[in-house]
Amino acid sequence: MANLTLEEKIAQMLQAEEKYITPEEVTEYGIGSILSGGGSHPNHYDDDVSVWYEMVKDYQEAALEARCSIPLLYGTDAVHGHNNVYGATIFPHNINLGMMNDAALVEQIGEATALEMKATGIHWNFSPAVSVARDIRWGRTYESFSEDPSIHANLVASFIQGLQSHHAIATAKHFVADGGTFKGIDQGDAILSEQAVRDYHLPPFIEAIEAGVSIIMVSFSSINGVKMHASEYWLTTVLRDELGFNGVLLSDWNAIFQLDGTFQEQLVTSINAGVDIVMLPMDWQAAHAELIDAVNLGMLTTERVDEAVKRILTLKYNHHLFENPTHRVDTETYFASDSHIELAKKAASASMVLLENDGVLPLNGTENLYLTGPAHDHVGYLAGGWTTHWQGNQDARLGTGTSILEGIQNHLKNNPGHIVHNLEDADTVIVVFSETPYAEGHGDTEHPTLFNGLAHPDNTQAYQQAIQAKALGLNVIGVIVSGRPLVLDDTVETFDALIAAFLPGSEGGSAFSDLLYNQTEFQGKLSFAWPASLNYFDSPDNHVHYPLGYGLTYDD
Ligand code: BGC
Ligand code: BGC
Repeated sequence: MANLTLEEKIAQMLQAEEKYITPEEVTEYGIGSILSGGGSHPNHYDDDVSVWYEMVKDYQEAALEARCSIPLLYGTDAVHGHNNVYGATIFPHNINLGMMNDAALVEQIGEATALEMKATGIHWNFSPAVSVARDIRWGRTYESFSEDPSIHANLVASFIQGLQSHHAIATAKHFVADGGTFKGIDQGDAILSEQAVRDYHLPPFIEAIEAGVSIIMVSFSSINGVKMHASEYWLTTVLRDELGFNGVLLSDWNAIFQLDGTFQEQLVTSINAGVDIVMLPMDWQAAHAELIDAVNLGMLTTERVDEAVKRILTLKYNHHLFENPTHRVDTETYFASDSHIELAKKAASASMVLLENDGVLPLNGTENLYLTGPAHDHVGYLAGGWTTHWQGNQDARLGTGTSILEGIQNHLKNNPGHIVHNLEDADTVIVVFSETPYAEGHGDTEHPTLFNGLAHPDNTQAYQQAIQAKALGLNVIGVIVSGRPLVLDDTVETFDALIAAFLPGSEGGSAFSDLLYNQTEFQGKLSFAWPASLNYFDSPDNHVHYPLGYGLTYDD
Protein backbone atom coordinates (compact mmCIF):
# COMPACT_ATOMS: atom_id res chain seq x y z
CA MET A 1 0.00 0.00 0.00
CA ALA A 2 2.71 2.43 1.00
CA ASN A 3 4.37 2.09 -2.40
CA LEU A 4 1.27 2.76 -4.43
CA THR A 5 0.50 6.08 -6.09
CA LEU A 6 -3.04 7.47 -6.04
CA GLU A 7 -3.34 6.54 -9.73
CA GLU A 8 -2.43 2.93 -8.96
CA LYS A 9 -4.83 2.77 -6.05
CA ILE A 10 -7.73 4.06 -8.13
CA ALA A 11 -6.89 1.50 -10.83
CA GLN A 12 -7.29 -1.27 -8.26
CA MET A 13 -10.84 -0.07 -7.66
CA LEU A 14 -11.90 -0.44 -11.30
CA GLN A 15 -13.12 -3.40 -13.29
CA ALA A 16 -13.06 -3.43 -17.09
CA GLU A 17 -14.61 -5.90 -19.52
CA GLU A 18 -12.10 -7.93 -21.49
CA LYS A 19 -13.34 -6.63 -24.85
CA TYR A 20 -12.69 -3.04 -23.77
CA ILE A 21 -9.17 -3.27 -22.39
CA THR A 22 -5.92 -4.47 -23.92
CA PRO A 23 -3.02 -6.13 -22.10
CA GLU A 24 -0.98 -2.98 -22.88
CA GLU A 25 -3.56 -0.85 -21.07
CA VAL A 26 -3.51 -3.25 -18.14
CA THR A 27 0.22 -2.67 -17.84
CA GLU A 28 -0.11 1.07 -18.31
CA TYR A 29 -2.78 1.55 -15.65
CA GLY A 30 -2.16 -1.42 -13.36
CA ILE A 31 -5.89 -2.14 -13.50
CA GLY A 32 -7.22 -4.18 -10.56
CA SER A 33 -9.70 -6.48 -12.25
CA ILE A 34 -11.25 -7.65 -15.50
CA LEU A 35 -14.42 -9.57 -16.26
CA SER A 36 -15.66 -11.64 -19.15
CA GLY A 37 -19.34 -10.68 -19.23
CA GLY A 38 -22.26 -12.94 -20.11
CA GLY A 39 -21.53 -14.42 -23.55
CA SER A 40 -18.13 -12.73 -23.84
CA HIS A 41 -15.48 -15.08 -25.24
CA PRO A 42 -11.83 -14.65 -26.20
CA ASN A 43 -12.72 -14.85 -29.94
CA HIS A 44 -15.63 -17.20 -30.65
CA TYR A 45 -18.32 -18.81 -28.55
CA ASP A 46 -16.79 -22.25 -29.10
CA ASP A 47 -13.24 -21.28 -28.11
CA ASP A 48 -11.26 -24.06 -26.52
CA VAL A 49 -10.33 -24.08 -22.83
CA SER A 50 -6.70 -23.41 -23.70
CA VAL A 51 -7.65 -20.31 -25.69
CA TRP A 52 -9.38 -19.03 -22.56
CA TYR A 53 -6.38 -19.82 -20.43
CA GLU A 54 -3.96 -18.08 -22.80
CA MET A 55 -6.15 -14.98 -22.79
CA VAL A 56 -6.38 -14.82 -19.01
CA LYS A 57 -2.66 -15.50 -18.68
CA ASP A 58 -1.79 -12.68 -21.12
CA TYR A 59 -3.80 -10.23 -19.04
CA GLN A 60 -2.32 -11.53 -15.81
CA GLU A 61 1.23 -11.22 -17.12
CA ALA A 62 0.45 -7.72 -18.31
CA ALA A 63 -0.70 -6.81 -14.80
CA LEU A 64 2.51 -8.18 -13.32
CA GLU A 65 4.51 -6.06 -15.77
CA ALA A 66 2.93 -2.89 -14.42
CA ARG A 67 5.11 -0.78 -12.12
CA CYS A 68 3.20 -1.94 -9.03
CA SER A 69 3.13 -5.57 -10.22
CA ILE A 70 -0.14 -6.53 -8.51
CA PRO A 71 -1.96 -9.60 -9.87
CA LEU A 72 -5.35 -9.12 -11.48
CA LEU A 73 -8.66 -10.45 -10.31
CA TYR A 74 -10.37 -12.11 -13.28
CA GLY A 75 -14.12 -12.66 -12.90
CA THR A 76 -16.98 -14.24 -14.78
CA ASP A 77 -20.54 -15.48 -14.29
CA ALA A 78 -20.14 -19.24 -13.79
CA VAL A 79 -23.68 -19.41 -12.47
CA HIS A 80 -24.44 -23.03 -13.42
CA GLY A 81 -21.05 -24.45 -14.13
CA HIS A 82 -18.45 -22.49 -16.13
CA ASN A 83 -21.23 -21.60 -18.54
CA ASN A 84 -19.48 -19.05 -20.76
CA VAL A 85 -17.10 -21.75 -21.91
CA TYR A 86 -18.11 -24.08 -24.72
CA GLY A 87 -18.14 -27.71 -23.64
CA ALA A 88 -18.21 -27.01 -19.88
CA THR A 89 -20.45 -29.13 -17.68
CA ILE A 90 -23.73 -27.23 -17.44
CA PHE A 91 -25.21 -27.86 -14.01
CA PRO A 92 -28.89 -27.27 -13.24
CA HIS A 93 -29.76 -23.64 -12.51
CA ASN A 94 -30.26 -22.54 -8.90
CA ILE A 95 -34.04 -23.03 -9.11
CA ASN A 96 -33.38 -26.75 -9.62
CA LEU A 97 -30.88 -26.82 -6.77
CA GLY A 98 -33.65 -25.42 -4.56
CA MET A 99 -36.05 -28.17 -5.72
CA MET A 100 -33.32 -30.70 -4.88
CA ASN A 101 -32.39 -28.97 -1.61
CA ASP A 102 -29.39 -31.22 -0.94
CA ALA A 103 -26.53 -29.29 0.71
CA ALA A 104 -23.88 -31.96 0.13
CA LEU A 105 -24.58 -32.17 -3.61
CA VAL A 106 -24.68 -28.38 -3.86
CA GLU A 107 -21.25 -28.16 -2.26
CA GLN A 108 -19.90 -30.69 -4.78
CA ILE A 109 -21.37 -28.64 -7.63
CA GLY A 110 -19.62 -25.56 -6.23
CA GLU A 111 -16.34 -27.41 -6.13
CA ALA A 112 -16.74 -28.83 -9.63
CA THR A 113 -17.52 -25.34 -10.93
CA ALA A 114 -14.42 -23.93 -9.21
CA LEU A 115 -12.29 -26.61 -10.86
CA GLU A 116 -13.71 -26.02 -14.34
CA MET A 117 -13.05 -22.30 -13.89
CA LYS A 118 -9.52 -23.05 -12.77
CA ALA A 119 -8.97 -25.06 -15.95
CA THR A 120 -9.25 -21.68 -17.76
CA GLY A 121 -7.17 -19.81 -15.17
CA ILE A 122 -10.24 -17.82 -14.02
CA HIS A 123 -10.48 -17.64 -10.24
CA TRP A 124 -13.42 -15.35 -9.52
CA ASN A 125 -17.07 -16.29 -9.89
CA PHE A 126 -20.03 -13.85 -9.81
CA SER A 127 -22.06 -16.55 -8.12
CA PRO A 128 -24.05 -17.60 -6.16
CA ALA A 129 -27.11 -15.44 -6.61
CA VAL A 130 -28.70 -15.71 -3.17
CA SER A 131 -31.77 -13.84 -4.38
CA VAL A 132 -35.04 -14.79 -2.77
CA ALA A 133 -37.36 -14.42 -5.76
CA ARG A 134 -40.76 -13.48 -4.38
CA ASP A 135 -42.51 -13.04 -7.74
CA ILE A 136 -42.06 -15.52 -10.59
CA ARG A 137 -42.77 -12.83 -13.15
CA TRP A 138 -39.14 -11.84 -12.57
CA GLY A 139 -36.92 -13.13 -15.39
CA ARG A 140 -34.18 -14.06 -12.92
CA THR A 141 -36.42 -16.39 -10.90
CA TYR A 142 -34.39 -19.38 -12.08
CA GLU A 143 -31.22 -17.87 -10.57
CA SER A 144 -32.92 -18.12 -7.17
CA PHE A 145 -33.05 -21.30 -5.08
CA SER A 146 -36.46 -20.54 -3.69
CA GLU A 147 -39.07 -18.02 -2.67
CA ASP A 148 -38.53 -19.38 0.84
CA PRO A 149 -35.37 -18.23 2.66
CA SER A 150 -35.32 -21.42 4.74
CA ILE A 151 -34.12 -23.28 1.62
CA HIS A 152 -31.30 -20.75 1.27
CA ALA A 153 -30.45 -21.45 4.89
CA ASN A 154 -29.75 -25.04 3.89
CA LEU A 155 -27.77 -24.32 0.71
CA VAL A 156 -25.95 -20.97 0.70
CA ALA A 157 -23.07 -21.84 3.02
CA SER A 158 -22.36 -25.18 1.32
CA PHE A 159 -22.45 -23.65 -2.14
CA ILE A 160 -20.02 -20.91 -1.13
CA GLN A 161 -17.66 -23.36 0.54
CA GLY A 162 -17.65 -25.47 -2.62
CA LEU A 163 -17.17 -22.46 -4.91
CA GLN A 164 -14.36 -21.07 -2.74
CA SER A 165 -12.40 -24.33 -2.77
CA HIS A 166 -9.18 -24.50 -4.81
CA HIS A 167 -8.54 -20.80 -4.06
CA ALA A 168 -11.50 -19.70 -6.18
CA ILE A 169 -13.54 -16.69 -5.08
CA ALA A 170 -17.32 -16.56 -4.76
CA THR A 171 -19.67 -13.56 -4.90
CA ALA A 172 -23.00 -13.42 -3.12
CA LYS A 173 -25.41 -11.30 -5.15
CA HIS A 174 -27.36 -9.04 -5.48
CA PHE A 175 -27.44 -7.05 -2.27
CA VAL A 176 -30.23 -6.72 -1.27
CA ALA A 177 -33.89 -7.53 -2.07
CA ASP A 178 -33.27 -8.00 -5.82
CA GLY A 179 -35.96 -10.70 -5.68
CA GLY A 180 -38.43 -8.47 -3.88
CA THR A 181 -39.15 -5.83 -6.49
CA PHE A 182 -42.67 -4.68 -7.30
CA LYS A 183 -44.28 -7.11 -9.80
CA GLY A 184 -40.93 -8.87 -10.15
CA ILE A 185 -39.58 -6.15 -12.42
CA ASP A 186 -35.85 -6.61 -13.03
CA GLN A 187 -33.75 -3.82 -11.51
CA GLY A 188 -37.01 -2.49 -10.07
CA ASP A 189 -38.10 -1.13 -6.71
CA ALA A 190 -38.71 -3.30 -3.65
CA ILE A 191 -41.56 -1.53 -1.90
CA LEU A 192 -41.11 -3.23 1.44
CA SER A 193 -40.91 -2.51 5.13
CA GLU A 194 -37.45 -2.78 6.61
CA GLN A 195 -38.72 -5.80 8.55
CA ALA A 196 -39.74 -7.58 5.34
CA VAL A 197 -36.28 -6.96 3.84
CA ARG A 198 -34.73 -8.38 6.99
CA ASP A 199 -37.08 -11.36 7.14
CA TYR A 200 -36.86 -12.48 3.52
CA HIS A 201 -33.88 -10.98 1.74
CA LEU A 202 -31.14 -10.35 4.27
CA PRO A 203 -30.76 -13.85 5.81
CA PRO A 204 -28.98 -15.45 2.81
CA PHE A 205 -26.35 -12.71 2.96
CA ILE A 206 -25.83 -13.35 6.66
CA GLU A 207 -25.33 -17.03 5.82
CA ALA A 208 -22.92 -16.10 3.02
CA ILE A 209 -20.85 -13.90 5.32
CA GLU A 210 -20.72 -16.59 7.98
CA ALA A 211 -19.54 -19.04 5.32
CA GLY A 212 -16.67 -16.67 4.49
CA VAL A 213 -17.82 -15.23 1.17
CA SER A 214 -15.14 -12.85 -0.11
CA ILE A 215 -17.20 -10.58 -2.32
CA ILE A 216 -20.74 -9.23 -2.38
CA MET A 217 -22.27 -7.66 -5.50
CA VAL A 218 -24.67 -4.76 -5.09
CA SER A 219 -28.12 -4.97 -6.71
CA PHE A 220 -29.29 -2.75 -9.56
CA SER A 221 -32.61 -2.54 -7.74
CA SER A 222 -33.93 -0.06 -5.16
CA ILE A 223 -35.61 -0.29 -1.80
CA ASN A 224 -38.48 2.16 -1.45
CA GLY A 225 -37.09 4.32 -4.23
CA VAL A 226 -33.48 4.41 -3.03
CA LYS A 227 -31.01 2.76 -5.40
CA MET A 228 -28.92 0.16 -3.59
CA HIS A 229 -25.78 1.55 -5.22
CA ALA A 230 -26.42 4.84 -3.42
CA SER A 231 -27.57 3.42 -0.11
CA GLU A 232 -25.02 4.08 2.58
CA TYR A 233 -27.57 2.68 5.03
CA TRP A 234 -27.72 -0.81 3.49
CA LEU A 235 -24.16 -0.98 2.14
CA THR A 236 -22.31 0.40 5.14
CA THR A 237 -24.52 0.73 8.21
CA VAL A 238 -26.12 -2.69 7.76
CA LEU A 239 -23.66 -4.74 5.71
CA ARG A 240 -20.38 -3.49 7.18
CA ASP A 241 -21.20 -2.20 10.65
CA GLU A 242 -24.05 -4.47 11.66
CA LEU A 243 -23.25 -7.72 9.79
CA GLY A 244 -19.49 -7.30 9.97
CA PHE A 245 -18.77 -7.99 6.29
CA ASN A 246 -15.14 -7.08 5.66
CA GLY A 247 -14.70 -8.47 2.14
CA VAL A 248 -14.98 -6.53 -1.10
CA LEU A 249 -18.17 -4.85 -2.26
CA LEU A 250 -18.55 -4.83 -6.06
CA SER A 251 -20.96 -2.73 -8.09
CA ASP A 252 -23.02 -4.34 -10.84
CA TRP A 253 -22.52 -3.79 -14.59
CA ASN A 254 -22.76 -0.05 -15.33
CA ALA A 255 -25.17 0.24 -12.41
CA ILE A 256 -23.74 3.54 -11.21
CA PHE A 257 -25.08 5.22 -14.36
CA GLN A 258 -28.53 4.83 -12.84
CA LEU A 259 -27.64 7.20 -9.97
CA ASP A 260 -28.29 10.94 -9.92
CA GLY A 261 -25.70 13.52 -10.91
CA THR A 262 -22.67 13.70 -13.18
CA PHE A 263 -20.50 10.68 -13.89
CA GLN A 264 -18.08 11.88 -11.22
CA GLU A 265 -20.88 12.31 -8.70
CA GLN A 266 -22.27 8.85 -9.51
CA LEU A 267 -18.86 7.29 -8.90
CA VAL A 268 -18.32 9.16 -5.66
CA THR A 269 -21.84 8.45 -4.38
CA SER A 270 -21.46 4.70 -4.82
CA ILE A 271 -17.95 4.55 -3.36
CA ASN A 272 -18.95 6.67 -0.39
CA ALA A 273 -21.99 4.45 0.10
CA GLY A 274 -19.63 1.47 0.37
CA VAL A 275 -18.63 0.15 -3.10
CA ASP A 276 -14.95 -0.90 -3.32
CA ILE A 277 -14.72 -2.06 -6.96
CA VAL A 278 -16.71 -0.34 -9.68
CA MET A 279 -17.68 -2.60 -12.60
CA LEU A 280 -17.41 -0.25 -15.55
CA PRO A 281 -16.96 -2.53 -18.55
CA MET A 282 -16.35 0.20 -21.11
CA ASP A 283 -15.82 3.42 -19.17
CA TRP A 284 -13.11 2.43 -16.73
CA GLN A 285 -10.61 4.82 -18.28
CA ALA A 286 -12.84 7.87 -17.90
CA ALA A 287 -13.67 6.73 -14.37
CA HIS A 288 -9.97 6.56 -13.55
CA ALA A 289 -9.51 10.23 -14.44
CA GLU A 290 -12.75 11.29 -12.70
CA LEU A 291 -11.84 9.54 -9.47
CA ILE A 292 -8.33 10.99 -9.27
CA ASP A 293 -9.90 14.38 -9.80
CA ALA A 294 -12.54 13.63 -7.13
CA VAL A 295 -9.81 12.91 -4.58
CA ASN A 296 -7.99 16.10 -5.52
CA LEU A 297 -11.24 18.04 -5.17
CA GLY A 298 -11.91 16.51 -1.75
CA MET A 299 -15.11 14.74 -2.89
CA LEU A 300 -13.54 11.40 -2.00
CA THR A 301 -11.12 10.99 0.88
CA THR A 302 -7.82 9.15 0.63
CA GLU A 303 -8.92 7.22 3.73
CA ARG A 304 -11.90 5.81 1.84
CA VAL A 305 -9.67 4.93 -1.13
CA ASP A 306 -7.13 3.26 1.16
CA GLU A 307 -9.83 1.29 2.92
CA ALA A 308 -11.13 -0.09 -0.40
CA VAL A 309 -7.66 -0.86 -1.77
CA LYS A 310 -6.63 -2.57 1.44
CA ARG A 311 -9.64 -4.88 1.16
CA ILE A 312 -8.87 -5.62 -2.48
CA LEU A 313 -5.20 -6.42 -1.81
CA THR A 314 -6.07 -8.51 1.23
CA LEU A 315 -8.46 -10.53 -0.91
CA LYS A 316 -5.83 -11.05 -3.61
CA TYR A 317 -3.35 -12.11 -0.96
CA ASN A 318 -5.73 -14.46 0.87
CA HIS A 319 -6.70 -16.20 -2.36
CA HIS A 320 -3.02 -16.84 -3.20
CA LEU A 321 -2.91 -14.61 -6.27
CA PHE A 322 0.48 -13.18 -5.31
CA GLU A 323 1.92 -16.66 -4.88
CA ASN A 324 0.51 -18.18 -8.03
CA PRO A 325 -1.17 -15.61 -10.28
CA THR A 326 -1.58 -17.87 -13.33
CA HIS A 327 -2.61 -20.98 -11.46
CA ARG A 328 -4.42 -23.53 -13.58
CA VAL A 329 -5.67 -27.06 -12.98
CA ASP A 330 -5.31 -29.80 -15.54
CA THR A 331 -8.00 -29.59 -18.22
CA GLU A 332 -8.02 -33.29 -19.04
CA THR A 333 -8.68 -34.20 -15.43
CA TYR A 334 -11.14 -31.50 -14.46
CA PHE A 335 -12.90 -29.84 -17.40
CA ALA A 336 -16.21 -31.59 -18.19
CA SER A 337 -14.78 -34.66 -16.51
CA ASP A 338 -16.83 -37.84 -16.24
CA SER A 339 -17.32 -37.22 -12.54
CA HIS A 340 -18.64 -33.69 -13.17
CA ILE A 341 -21.02 -34.98 -15.85
CA GLU A 342 -22.20 -37.67 -13.44
CA LEU A 343 -22.70 -35.06 -10.71
CA ALA A 344 -24.69 -32.82 -13.06
CA LYS A 345 -26.89 -35.77 -13.99
CA LYS A 346 -27.46 -36.69 -10.38
CA ALA A 347 -28.49 -33.14 -9.54
CA ALA A 348 -30.73 -32.87 -12.60
CA SER A 349 -32.50 -36.06 -11.61
CA ALA A 350 -32.88 -35.07 -7.96
CA SER A 351 -34.35 -31.71 -8.94
CA MET A 352 -37.16 -32.61 -11.35
CA VAL A 353 -40.61 -32.52 -9.77
CA LEU A 354 -43.37 -35.04 -10.48
CA LEU A 355 -46.57 -33.00 -10.49
CA GLU A 356 -49.11 -35.57 -11.70
CA ASN A 357 -49.10 -39.32 -12.20
CA ASP A 358 -52.18 -41.48 -12.67
CA GLY A 359 -50.00 -44.58 -12.77
CA VAL A 360 -48.61 -44.26 -16.30
CA LEU A 361 -45.12 -43.71 -14.83
CA PRO A 362 -42.67 -45.31 -14.46
CA LEU A 363 -42.47 -46.84 -17.92
CA ASN A 364 -41.69 -50.55 -18.04
CA GLY A 365 -40.17 -50.88 -21.50
CA THR A 366 -43.23 -52.30 -23.29
CA GLU A 367 -44.22 -48.86 -24.59
CA ASN A 368 -44.11 -47.46 -28.08
CA LEU A 369 -43.08 -43.88 -27.43
CA TYR A 370 -43.68 -40.83 -29.56
CA LEU A 371 -41.83 -37.67 -28.55
CA THR A 372 -42.77 -34.15 -29.52
CA GLY A 373 -42.63 -30.53 -28.34
CA PRO A 374 -39.95 -27.84 -28.71
CA ALA A 375 -37.59 -29.17 -26.01
CA HIS A 376 -37.83 -32.89 -26.78
CA ASP A 377 -34.47 -32.86 -28.59
CA HIS A 378 -32.77 -29.65 -27.47
CA VAL A 379 -29.93 -29.29 -24.99
CA GLY A 380 -29.85 -25.48 -25.28
CA TYR A 381 -33.37 -25.25 -23.85
CA LEU A 382 -32.53 -27.61 -20.99
CA ALA A 383 -29.62 -25.32 -20.12
CA GLY A 384 -31.50 -21.97 -20.31
CA GLY A 385 -29.99 -18.49 -19.95
CA TRP A 386 -26.33 -17.80 -19.14
CA THR A 387 -25.15 -20.65 -21.38
CA THR A 388 -22.34 -19.73 -23.81
CA HIS A 389 -24.43 -16.60 -24.49
CA TRP A 390 -25.81 -14.09 -22.04
CA GLN A 391 -29.48 -14.80 -22.91
CA GLY A 392 -28.85 -18.52 -23.43
CA ASN A 393 -28.07 -20.63 -26.46
CA GLN A 394 -30.74 -21.36 -29.09
CA ASP A 395 -28.73 -24.30 -30.45
CA ALA A 396 -30.02 -27.81 -29.90
CA ARG A 397 -26.44 -29.04 -29.28
CA LEU A 398 -23.92 -27.44 -26.94
CA GLY A 399 -20.83 -29.55 -27.45
CA THR A 400 -21.77 -31.39 -24.31
CA GLY A 401 -24.86 -32.98 -22.83
CA THR A 402 -27.81 -35.10 -23.85
CA SER A 403 -31.26 -34.10 -25.04
CA ILE A 404 -34.37 -35.84 -23.72
CA LEU A 405 -34.72 -37.84 -26.95
CA GLU A 406 -31.04 -38.83 -26.84
CA GLY A 407 -31.36 -39.83 -23.18
CA ILE A 408 -34.19 -42.20 -24.03
CA GLN A 409 -32.40 -43.51 -27.13
CA ASN A 410 -29.33 -44.25 -25.00
CA HIS A 411 -31.47 -46.13 -22.49
CA LEU A 412 -33.13 -48.16 -25.25
CA LYS A 413 -29.76 -49.34 -26.58
CA ASN A 414 -29.60 -51.85 -23.73
CA ASN A 415 -33.21 -52.06 -22.62
CA PRO A 416 -36.58 -52.99 -24.09
CA GLY A 417 -38.87 -50.31 -25.53
CA HIS A 418 -39.38 -48.47 -28.83
CA ILE A 419 -39.50 -45.00 -30.22
CA VAL A 420 -41.97 -44.55 -33.07
CA HIS A 421 -42.11 -41.72 -35.59
CA ASN A 422 -45.86 -41.32 -36.00
CA LEU A 423 -48.26 -40.45 -33.27
CA GLU A 424 -50.69 -43.06 -34.61
CA ASP A 425 -48.14 -45.84 -33.97
CA ALA A 426 -47.64 -44.86 -30.34
CA ASP A 427 -49.29 -45.93 -27.14
CA THR A 428 -47.46 -43.32 -25.04
CA VAL A 429 -46.73 -39.74 -26.05
CA ILE A 430 -44.18 -37.48 -24.36
CA VAL A 431 -44.76 -33.78 -24.99
CA VAL A 432 -41.88 -31.55 -23.92
CA PHE A 433 -42.92 -27.91 -23.57
CA SER A 434 -40.40 -25.15 -23.17
CA GLU A 435 -39.73 -21.53 -22.50
CA THR A 436 -37.19 -20.02 -24.89
CA PRO A 437 -33.96 -19.22 -23.06
CA TYR A 438 -33.67 -15.81 -21.43
CA ALA A 439 -31.74 -13.94 -18.78
CA GLU A 440 -32.05 -10.64 -16.93
CA GLY A 441 -34.43 -8.06 -18.35
CA HIS A 442 -35.64 -10.07 -21.33
CA GLY A 443 -37.05 -12.75 -19.05
CA ASP A 444 -39.58 -10.56 -17.24
CA THR A 445 -43.20 -11.26 -18.13
CA GLU A 446 -46.65 -10.54 -16.77
CA HIS A 447 -47.95 -13.73 -18.41
CA PRO A 448 -45.95 -16.72 -17.24
CA THR A 449 -48.17 -19.42 -18.76
CA LEU A 450 -47.66 -22.42 -21.02
CA PHE A 451 -48.55 -20.34 -24.08
CA ASN A 452 -47.70 -16.73 -23.24
CA GLY A 453 -44.81 -14.70 -21.94
CA LEU A 454 -41.53 -16.44 -22.67
CA ALA A 455 -43.27 -19.68 -23.71
CA HIS A 456 -41.89 -21.26 -26.86
CA PRO A 457 -44.24 -20.55 -29.81
CA ASP A 458 -44.29 -24.28 -30.68
CA ASN A 459 -45.92 -25.13 -27.34
CA THR A 460 -49.31 -24.43 -28.92
CA GLN A 461 -48.82 -26.99 -31.65
CA ALA A 462 -47.34 -29.48 -29.18
CA TYR A 463 -50.40 -29.10 -27.00
CA GLN A 464 -52.64 -29.80 -30.02
CA GLN A 465 -50.79 -33.09 -30.41
CA ALA A 466 -51.32 -33.84 -26.73
CA ILE A 467 -55.07 -33.33 -27.19
CA GLN A 468 -55.07 -35.49 -30.30
CA ALA A 469 -53.20 -38.25 -28.45
CA LYS A 470 -55.62 -38.03 -25.55
CA ALA A 471 -58.58 -38.37 -27.96
CA LEU A 472 -56.94 -41.48 -29.44
CA GLY A 473 -56.79 -42.97 -25.93
CA LEU A 474 -53.00 -42.84 -25.69
CA ASN A 475 -51.10 -42.13 -22.49
CA VAL A 476 -49.90 -38.55 -22.49
CA ILE A 477 -46.89 -37.44 -20.45
CA GLY A 478 -46.23 -33.72 -20.24
CA VAL A 479 -42.83 -32.25 -19.42
CA ILE A 480 -42.21 -28.55 -18.80
CA VAL A 481 -38.76 -27.05 -19.31
CA SER A 482 -38.89 -23.55 -17.83
CA GLY A 483 -37.20 -21.05 -15.57
CA ARG A 484 -40.24 -20.83 -13.28
CA PRO A 485 -43.65 -22.40 -12.70
CA LEU A 486 -45.99 -21.70 -15.63
CA VAL A 487 -49.72 -21.25 -15.14
CA LEU A 488 -51.34 -24.37 -16.64
CA ASP A 489 -55.06 -23.59 -16.45
CA ASP A 490 -57.06 -26.67 -17.51
CA THR A 491 -54.34 -28.00 -19.83
CA VAL A 492 -53.38 -30.18 -16.90
CA GLU A 493 -56.45 -32.38 -17.59
CA THR A 494 -54.80 -33.59 -20.78
CA PHE A 495 -51.87 -35.26 -19.03
CA ASP A 496 -51.69 -38.67 -17.41
CA ALA A 497 -48.39 -37.62 -15.91
CA LEU A 498 -46.77 -34.20 -15.67
CA ILE A 499 -43.17 -33.38 -14.83
CA ALA A 500 -41.63 -30.00 -14.08
CA ALA A 501 -38.01 -30.24 -15.24
CA PHE A 502 -37.21 -26.53 -14.77
CA LEU A 503 -33.69 -25.88 -16.20
CA PRO A 504 -31.83 -29.12 -15.49
CA GLY A 505 -28.70 -28.34 -17.54
CA SER A 506 -26.71 -30.34 -20.05
CA GLU A 507 -27.38 -33.71 -18.41
CA GLY A 508 -31.12 -33.12 -18.10
CA GLY A 509 -31.90 -35.60 -20.90
CA SER A 510 -30.15 -38.58 -19.39
CA ALA A 511 -31.46 -37.69 -15.92
CA PHE A 512 -34.98 -37.59 -17.36
CA SER A 513 -34.69 -41.00 -18.96
CA ASP A 514 -33.44 -42.49 -15.67
CA LEU A 515 -36.53 -41.14 -13.91
CA LEU A 516 -38.86 -42.30 -16.65
CA TYR A 517 -37.66 -45.90 -16.40
CA ASN A 518 -37.28 -45.82 -12.63
CA GLN A 519 -33.49 -46.08 -12.62
CA THR A 520 -33.74 -43.23 -10.12
CA GLU A 521 -36.58 -41.97 -7.93
CA PHE A 522 -38.30 -38.60 -8.11
CA GLN A 523 -37.09 -36.51 -5.17
CA GLY A 524 -37.67 -32.90 -6.22
CA LYS A 525 -40.05 -30.77 -4.15
CA LEU A 526 -41.33 -27.39 -5.29
CA SER A 527 -39.25 -24.55 -3.88
CA PHE A 528 -41.71 -22.12 -5.48
CA ALA A 529 -45.48 -22.33 -5.14
CA TRP A 530 -47.14 -23.05 -8.49
CA PRO A 531 -49.83 -20.45 -9.22
CA ALA A 532 -53.16 -21.72 -10.53
CA SER A 533 -53.96 -18.58 -12.50
CA LEU A 534 -52.62 -15.16 -13.33
CA ASN A 535 -54.95 -13.75 -10.66
CA TYR A 536 -52.53 -15.21 -8.16
CA PHE A 537 -50.27 -12.23 -8.57
CA ASP A 538 -52.89 -9.78 -7.41
CA SER A 539 -54.08 -11.89 -4.48
CA PRO A 540 -51.16 -14.07 -3.42
CA ASP A 541 -53.16 -16.14 -0.94
CA ASN A 542 -55.41 -17.53 -3.64
CA HIS A 543 -55.20 -20.15 -6.28
CA VAL A 544 -52.14 -22.24 -5.69
CA HIS A 545 -52.17 -25.15 -8.11
CA TYR A 546 -49.35 -26.98 -6.30
CA PRO A 547 -48.08 -25.66 -2.98
CA LEU A 548 -44.52 -25.04 -1.86
CA GLY A 549 -42.94 -28.38 -0.91
CA TYR A 550 -45.17 -30.37 -3.26
CA GLY A 551 -43.75 -33.22 -5.33
CA LEU A 552 -44.92 -36.81 -5.91
CA THR A 553 -42.85 -39.98 -5.81
CA TYR A 554 -43.55 -43.34 -7.43
CA ASP A 555 -44.80 -44.57 -4.07
CA ASP A 556 -47.58 -41.96 -3.91
C1 BGC B 1 -25.84 -8.91 -13.76
C2 BGC B 1 -24.92 -9.61 -12.80
C3 BGC B 1 -23.70 -10.11 -13.52
C4 BGC B 1 -23.03 -8.97 -14.24
C5 BGC B 1 -21.79 -9.38 -15.01
C6 BGC B 1 -25.11 -7.89 -14.59
O1 BGC B 1 -25.92 -7.37 -15.59
O2 BGC B 1 -26.89 -8.29 -13.04
O3 BGC B 1 -25.60 -10.68 -12.18
O4 BGC B 1 -22.83 -10.71 -12.60
O5 BGC B 1 -23.94 -8.41 -15.16
O6 BGC B 1 -22.09 -10.17 -16.08
C1 BGC C 1 -23.11 -8.61 -20.70
C2 BGC C 1 -23.58 -9.21 -19.42
C3 BGC C 1 -24.23 -8.17 -18.61
C4 BGC C 1 -25.27 -7.39 -19.41
C5 BGC C 1 -25.82 -6.26 -18.62
C6 BGC C 1 -24.25 -7.91 -21.41
O1 BGC C 1 -23.83 -7.34 -22.62
O2 BGC C 1 -22.54 -9.56 -21.53
O3 BGC C 1 -22.54 -9.77 -18.70
O4 BGC C 1 -24.83 -8.77 -17.52
O5 BGC C 1 -24.77 -6.92 -20.61
O6 BGC C 1 -26.70 -5.47 -19.35
